[in-house]
Amino acid sequence: MTPAKPRLTVIDTDPGIDDAIGILMALASPDFTIAGIMTVAGNIGLETTTRNAGRLLAFAGRGDIPVFQGAAAPLSRVGPEPLNLHGEDGIGGVALPDPARLPESQHAVEWLADFLLGEPAGTVDVLALGPLTNLARLVLEQPEAARRIGRIIAMGGAIHEHGNVGPCSEFNLWADPEAAAVVVESGLPLVLIPLDVTRRVRATRDFVETLAASEKPMASMVASLIESYFEAATNRESRPLHDPCVMLYALAPELFRIEELRLCVDTGGSDAAGALAIDPEGSPVQVALGVDGSGALHLLARCLSAGSTSASIG
Ligand code: RIB
Ligand code: CA
Repeated sequence: MTPAKPRLTVIDTDPGIDDAIGILMALASPDFTIAGIMTVAGNIGLETTTRNAGRLLAFAGRGDIPVFQGAAAPLSRVGPEPLNLHGEDGIGGVALPDPARLPESQHAVEWLADFLLGEPAGTVDVLALGPLTNLARLVLEQPEAARRIGRIIAMGGAIHEHGNVGPCSEFNLWADPEAAAVVVESGLPLVLIPLDVTRRVRATRDFVETLAASEKPMASMVASLIESYFEAATNRESRPLHDPCVMLYALAPELFRIEELRLCVDTGGSDAAGALAIDPEGSPVQVALGVDGSGALHLLARCLSAGSTSASIG
């Protein structure tokens, strides 16, 4: 059987330690052709998320992939304060090189629209790892281009799980509820990867040690990133590998159980802002509600250990 042609992929991200793991996984895998990385404010401010995207590409020896700055703030609300858990540099203090090139001058949303209009409809996937402000602006400002997206695979939301920001809200949707509502209601082919599955994909100490022992720079770099992502030295498992689950779904959807749910997003002013609700009047969305956590970790390790990039020794 001929291998599937690598999918043209755009990553929309707020790196962020877990974003960084997902990005390195995608860069290490021949199944992704990364056309560009778009950045958004979220885990930390836009300048830092953009710098971190450039640092990850420099480490992976992929200075050929452009970085485009996107939204510095949500559509209509004040943006979130930086999350301490990603560290002052947003990347857990892990030793990464400086960016090899500056971000492009074109805004991410304008670039994505031009890119989508230049490629055959349905051939470009967007992997969304942060607040959905950039995608929402594309839907609102460039709807013809937005309709050409093949798939949006987005980490966000919580269905039956409690939130990680307030009782029901997950950070990416909470950070810009209006943007989340625009994307969910857009009718675009959206696969949502919520906390219901990402909380079941956590690295163990043994997993990290195996990666660290690898001769592959990508694997040992991810080991360092995960090491900085344990909640305490005594913890046997890392924080959830939220964003890598987006790449894992793109590579192996069979690891996930998907259901179509009709959803709406709370855009009110209470602590439920950004929360998802199942509503018969809501928009149909493919939602991952189950995952083979062990299979996901094995696939992550395989991608990183097979990593064929010219990654520098960080
Ligand atoms: O709730 C988890 C999400 O919020 C992840 O994307 C993490 O990087 C943060 O952006
Ligand atoms: Ca993220």
